Amino acid sequence: MRRFIYIRWFIFLIMLIFLHSNNAFSNVNRGDMEACKGCHEDYYKSFLESIHGKKSISGSPINNEGCVTCHTNGAMHVEKGGGKGVEVFSFGKKVDPEEKSAKCLFCHGESKAVAFWEMSKHKSNGVACTDCHYIHSKREKGLIAKERDLCYSCHKDIKMQFNKQSHHPVNEDKMKCSSCHTPHGGFGQKMILADAVNELCYNCHAEKRGPFMYEHSPVEENCLNCHSVHGSNHNRMLSKKQPLLCQSCHDWNLHPGTPYTSFESFVGGATSGKNRQIGRGCLNCHSNIHGSNGPSTRGLRFVR
Ligand code: HEC
Ligand code: HEC
Ligand code: HEC
Ligand code: HEC
Ligand code: HEC
Ligand code: HEC
Ligand code: HEC
Ligand code: HEC
Ligand code: HEC
Ligand code: HEC
Repeated sequence: MRRFIYIRWFIFLIMLIFLHSNNAFSNVNRGDMEACKGCHEDYYKSFLESIHGKKSISGSPINNEGCVTCHTNGAMHVEKGGGKGVEVFSFGKKVDPEEKSAKCLFCHGESKAVAFWEMSKHKSNGVACTDCHYIHSKREKGLIAKERDLCYSCHKDIKMQFNKQSHHPVNEDKMKCSSCHTPHGGFGQKMILADAVNELCYNCHAEKRGPFMYEHSPVEENCLNCHSVHGSNHNRMLSKKQPLLCQSCHDWNLHPGTPYTSFESFVGGATSGKNRQIGRGCLNCHSNIHGSNGPSTRGLRFVR
């Protein structure tokens, strides 16, 4: 009788140990991973160091099927002793990007971050999650290498724009591409983080929103009428040199244009009797170029 009680205690203890191990399959999974470790130690280690290898996070791959959550068919690969010609799922260049992303969307499909992935230019141009996220490296936040280097690696033209003299301080680490863009897609044109360009700019340059008593219509229409947002060789990221920028829309006949032709400013200038300006030119007088609340006609002309 006494011995029987011992056995019941023993069974109870086993049950307790069993329940305490994360879930019923965890032993099997760890077995899988150990099997891979022998031949792929670097991948094993980097995986364990990543957020996906954290046992404390429920739903992480290590609490799912370990390595074979993503590398399906891993078991068969082990059975046959590893090596080439075995159909373990890999993330090589030749593998269909949609299939690769599907491995991630299996868990992240519901993530808010990728809710608009289906409509992103990245997806439609054959970019996979794994072109940007590195599962096997202990990278900075978000399993990503230095973000701008990542983006520059495919967007070389944009890199050149940010090398220009006047640029948003991405290279200075004060902001990132993702301060303005969503790499996962969204409703904004060009995957910007807003419904319209001006809304994006107002996020950080709120003082430009107004309302102004006297609006300069190209400003309300689109900041990019005058600014090159990634960078430009003209001060203040202006898309054209001054006063050509203003003259590209404003008449040359009246007061504005004429003093500024290279001809008149040097040759005809002294005798033409016209108003002459130096330096910032038009802006010396029309300083409230984004809109003005100034009184009457001065306000109307954006003059101080
Ligand atoms: C007995 C050694 C061995 C074991 C165990 C092993 N592998 Fe491999 N694995 C290899 C070899 C060898 C290659 C081929 C490498 C090459 O192509 O250069 C390989 C290739 C791979 C590849 C790339 C396949 C491709 O098409 O490029 C993946 C992914 C992989 N293994 C995952 C795993 C996983 C996951 C496990 C555990 C479930 C595992 N391996 C267990 C030896 C092994
Ligand atoms: C969350 C999905 C995921 C899990 C889980 C995962 N891997 Fe990978 N694995 C990848 C991706 C993606 C790559 C491509 C390179 C990269 O992103 O770092 C890769 C690359 C590899 C490669 C090189 C062959 C290739 O496909 O490029 C091997 C070998 C490998 N993993 C083994 C393992 C082992 C062993 C484990 C478990 C310890 C594991 N992986 C767990 C996603 C995963
Ligand atoms: C088995 C489920 C599962 C799979 C498969 C999976 N993940 Fe995750 N992933 C998680 C969980 C859980 C977290 C941690 C909680 C969170 O951020 O959602 C996470 C976190 C992340 C993070 C955020 C890291 C951070 O520091 O905020 C990124 C990025 C990520 N995963 C990308 C991927 C990519 C790319 C793939 C495909 C190769 C993938 N995941 C496959 C479950 C998964
Ligand atoms: C073009 C590069 C790129 C692609 C492709 C990409 N991501 Fe990201 N992902 C990023 C960047 C950059 C961040 C960090 C900035 C941010 O939160 O927007 C990020 C962040 C994340 C995060 C963390 C979000 C958070 O709120 O912390 C998850 C999860 C994630 N990505 C999953 C995925 C999945 C799943 C896919 C594929 C369907 C994918 N990503 C495709 C660049 C990319
Ligand atoms: C200050 C905000 C801002 C930052 C920072 C920024 N962008 Fe942009 N980006 C924009 C706006 C605004 C557009 C243009 C939208 C339009 O034309 O309607 C744009 C357009 C683009 C385009 C499309 C270009 C085209 O001609 O179609 C690409 C590609 C791009 N950006 C990549 C990047 C990359 C890569 C980075 C980081 C190195 C970056 N952007 C940083 C705001 C920004
Ligand atoms: C693996 C290559 C690759 C990487 C990495 C990459 N992109 Fe792209 N991106 C593309 C391709 C391909 C397109 C579509 C063709 C194009 O517009 O150049 C694109 C398009 C874009 C566009 C224009 C969208 C539109 O509607 O025209 C923006 C903005 C953009 N990427 C931002 C980013 C940002 C921000 C990063 C870094 C987080 C990044 N990309 C990383 C390949 C990449
Ligand atoms: C995420 C925040 C952010 C967004 C969004 C943003 N900017 Fe900026 N902008 C900055 C920062 C930071 C600076 C640098 C300020 C400094 O160096 O003092 C800057 C500087 C500028 C400058 C002045 C450059 C100079 O030489 O002084 C202009 C012009 C500008 N931004 C225009 C825009 C336009 C146009 C948009 C919308 C397409 C925009 N910004 C969106 C943060 C932002
Ligand atoms: C009609 C052309 C034009 C348009 C459109 C325009 N800007 Fe400007 N912006 C300028 C000029 C010219 C300067 C240089 C002012 C100076 O040097 O004093 C400037 C300077 C700036 C500066 C830096 C100096 C400052 O005043 O803070 C920021 C930031 C800026 N603009 C943001 C914006 C935003 C945001 C929009 C859209 C809402 C916009 N701009 C639309 C012409 C324009
Ligand atoms: C993209 C075209 C465009 C650019 C560039 C532009 N403007 Fe304008 N500007 C306009 C339009 C359109 C109006 C409104 C004209 C109207 O209401 O008759 C206007 C109005 C004005 C007015 C008020 C005129 C009036 O009759 O009330 C002044 C002053 C002015 N702009 C100065 C400038 C200066 C200085 C620059 C250069 C920094 C500049 N503009 C750049 C399109 C532009
Ligand atoms: C010395 C100061 C000064 C400079 C420099 C200047 N303006 Fe003006 N501008 C004015 C004043 C003052 C008015 C208002 C005239 C009026 O109300 O009759 C005006 C009016 C205008 C108007 C309204 C239309 C008109 O003819 O009444 C436009 C457009 C304009 N300027 C554009 C420019 C441009 C473009 C430049 C640079 C090429 C420029 N201005 C340089 C002072 C200046």
